[in-house]
Amino acid sequence: MAESVTITDNRTGESIEIPIANGGIDAADWRKLLPGIWFYDPAFSTTAAATSAVTEVDGEAGILRYRGYPIDQLAEKSSYLEVAYLLVNGELPSTQQYEEWVHDITYHTFIHENVRKRFMDGFHHDAHPMGILVSTIAALSTFYNDAKDIDDPESRYKQIIRLIAKMPTMAAAAHRHSVGMPFVYPDNSLDFCSNFLSMMWKVAEPRYEADPVLSRALEVLFILHADHEQNAGTTAMRVVGSSHADPYSAATAAAAGLYGPRHGGANEAVIRMLTQIGSADNVKPFVADVKAGKGRLQGFGHRVYKNYDPRAKIIKQTADEVFEVTGRNPLLDIALKLEEVALADDYFVSRKLYPNVDFYSGLIYQAMGFPMEMFTVLFAIPRTSGWLAHWLELLQRDERIARPRQLYDGADSRDYIAIEQR
Ligand code: CMC
Repeated sequence: MAESVTITDNRTGESIEIPIANGGIDAADWRKLLPGIWFYDPAFSTTAAATSAVTEVDGEAGILRYRGYPIDQLAEKSSYLEVAYLLVNGELPSTQQYEEWVHDITYHTFIHENVRKRFMDGFHHDAHPMGILVSTIAALSTFYNDAKDIDDPESRYKQIIRLIAKMPTMAAAAHRHSVGMPFVYPDNSLDFCSNFLSMMWKVAEPRYEADPVLSRALEVLFILHADHEQNAGTTAMRVVGSSHADPYSAATAAAAGLYGPRHGGANEAVIRMLTQIGSADNVKPFVADVKAGKGRLQGFGHRVYKNYDPRAKIIKQTADEVFEVTGRNPLLDIALKLEEVALADDYFVSRKLYPNVDFYSGLIYQAMGFPMEMFTVLFAIPRTSGWLAHWLELLQRDERIARPRQLYDGADSRDYIAIEQR
């Protein structure tokens, strides 16, 4: 059996055989036979927009691997910064490489005073922290003019370190601003997650001591969220990065892509949905409404996973550990009932709709005291390393600028009519 497809243009009788490589066919071959005929694929459902060696998702089997390493092994044994190194550099670090990486990131956690005082403090008191974060990432590009040197490997490395390091600082600052609390400077004697918790929650104590269980739970959540191949946010990163914009500008587009409720905003939407359902008794009528087309089950379904999201399995375990410390989130019973009802219902089974990563993550964040508005921000912190891994990859592979075609369906050519004659 040939590993190829044959396409015949029935208008001319001309045929072309295109090899199938890596599960796909190269559009360059297709273009040779049919110049000017485009694939219509607006949501990229059947289009591979990149070749990538960063993350592998097998949606049918429910498998997720970063650089070949299964997500469950990384979640159990690794740290977020080690995973960030792996994503960006392609290999797990040696002890010396890891120490240097952690050192460099730890000593870039401070943000320029003007980033906070001129930009972040300028936002209205009720500004959404994700809106603040998106704008502040963009502002960073004006503080680091060397970021434009995208052809210089040293400059690339510096921006990668800066962005990964400053995300928790900006995220916590966005929260403190939105609740009217004073900014907390980074404490570089703490690890990445404990430092973030300190910047979030410190009040008047000389040193904030994070609960180690909660700090580790955050580490696991950060590992699970660090990358997920070509989703909307990462695609935005790659599209903007392909124009050779600086990485802060590209990451701003990625973070904006993440903001929406169909993507990183889903965990916030899950909590709003569970709160609206109110009690386990209301689950069945709610599910009936969803089936009747009145909204969607938030935290359910995925473009790629047609099986249980492997991240959701790990998160469920983490939830149990967190609730031991914080007490059980009262919305958990509604969530469990919702999962049970949906997974026994043919509507969800036939469409292969399973809980995704966001179904349980919001419950954990809420139990840990994070306000709902911070949930997407918590997603953006670790996803930054994934965005940067993809940005670096597209530059290293010298990818062309992203420029899809369109099928025009607007008005035919017509003459301008003066306003008084319309
Ligand atoms: N609740 C009810 N029905 C759904 C849902 C849902 N959550 N998701 C999909 N469907 C139905 C949809 O109505 C359609 O049915 P039909 O064939 O009868 O028209 C079918 O399933 C296929 O849906 P689709 O819209 O073609 O699927 P998609 O691949 O375009 O959308 C999705 C994927 C994740 C946007 C969607 O499943 C969704 O809106 N889920 C809820 C939001 C959510 O949880 N998002 C987080 C995604 S995971 C984290 C991340 O990567 O950011």
